[in-house]
Amino acid sequence: MLKSTITPLRWEAGALVLLDQRRLPAVEEFIRCTTYEAVVEAIGSMVVRGAPAIGIAGAYGVVLAARAAFASDPKRWREALPPALAALRAARPTAVNLAWAVDRMASFIAAQNTDPMADLLGEATRIHAEDLAANHRMGELGAAFIAPLSRLMTHCNAGALATAGYGTALGVVRSAHAAGRVLEVFATETRPWLQGARLTAWELHRDGVPVRLITDGSAAHVMREHGVSWVIVGADRVAANGDVANKIGTYGLALAARAHGARFMVVAPCSTIDLATASGRDIPIEERPGDEVLSLSGARHAALGVSALNPVFDVTPADLIDVLVTERGALPRPDVRSLAELLAKPPT
Ligand code: MRU
Repeated sequence: MLKSTITPLRWEAGALVLLDQRRLPAVEEFIRCTTYEAVVEAIGSMVVRGAPAIGIAGAYGVVLAARAAFASDPKRWREALPPALAALRAARPTAVNLAWAVDRMASFIAAQNTDPMADLLGEATRIHAEDLAANHRMGELGAAFIAPLSRLMTHCNAGALATAGYGTALGVVRSAHAAGRVLEVFATETRPWLQGARLTAWELHRDGVPVRLITDGSAAHVMREHGVSWVIVGADRVAANGDVANKIGTYGLALAARAHGARFMVVAPCSTIDLATASGRDIPIEERPGDEVLSLSGARHAALGVSALNPVFDVTPADLIDVLVTERGALPRPDVRSLAELLAKPPT
């Protein structure tokens, strides 16, 4: 099986160990979380980021919360859990994988009568393992769309770092590269956090995939001048009608792709599909502090007194999406019907 050499999170000796993504690529440092509060803080401060990865972290956060509640009252520990579940669920608002994983853990707890702790870690581990398996399946399914000698573009980081360890969009890139079909990948910088410059370029370079970094503003020009055949991105939430929330700038890339004859692929596991959210208009869009825009690596470059607006996700309408790749299959032009049918299928 194809692999990435990068593991963003693991469970070890009773703690959640996270690769601190704020310090990459300069420093590879791990942070140990032994409380659910530490997990909430790590998710909010972007130590761990990317929709599936924060879902997995949230699931392990529930294990830590349950263990602490059990230690302080072995009889009534379940009653003490709701504030912890609510805090984990709310650590970031847009990626539905976080709420999905916390809710799955809560349903699991509600259904158990015996030995809750061992079983609970088992459920978190299953969420973790299922994500990795889904990444590999999506990699295969998505790579089938890529013709030989393709130039690809990706945005933000939907790679090993953002998932259990192979990637959604970058899983497709990895699988297509392994099949010898990728001439090169253009990775957008992705201001303000520079997930493309710091994380995607690092991941692809480290795994031997030819990558060139571009500024966000050059994407349309590069599509026109360099013959990009596919723009491939991940997702934080897919609404019931097929609208997709992803990193700010994705919508503009989809518009530019349509204008330049490049096709637009969204790669996301079923845990990112939220049939309870009717359309993109109903997706909560996270806004982060303006300082992230006014400064770079902690150094302020905007004039004092200038303020900033910092929405960190946007919504791409379904009609700009050529294909949505999930682990249960690829949907050309996803819509209400095809998404509902996909989720009604039993997982394979
Ligand atoms: O703010 P981030 O870095 O968590 O945003 C991540 C993205 O937008 C990713 O594209 C998305 O979560 C998919 S990750 C497989």
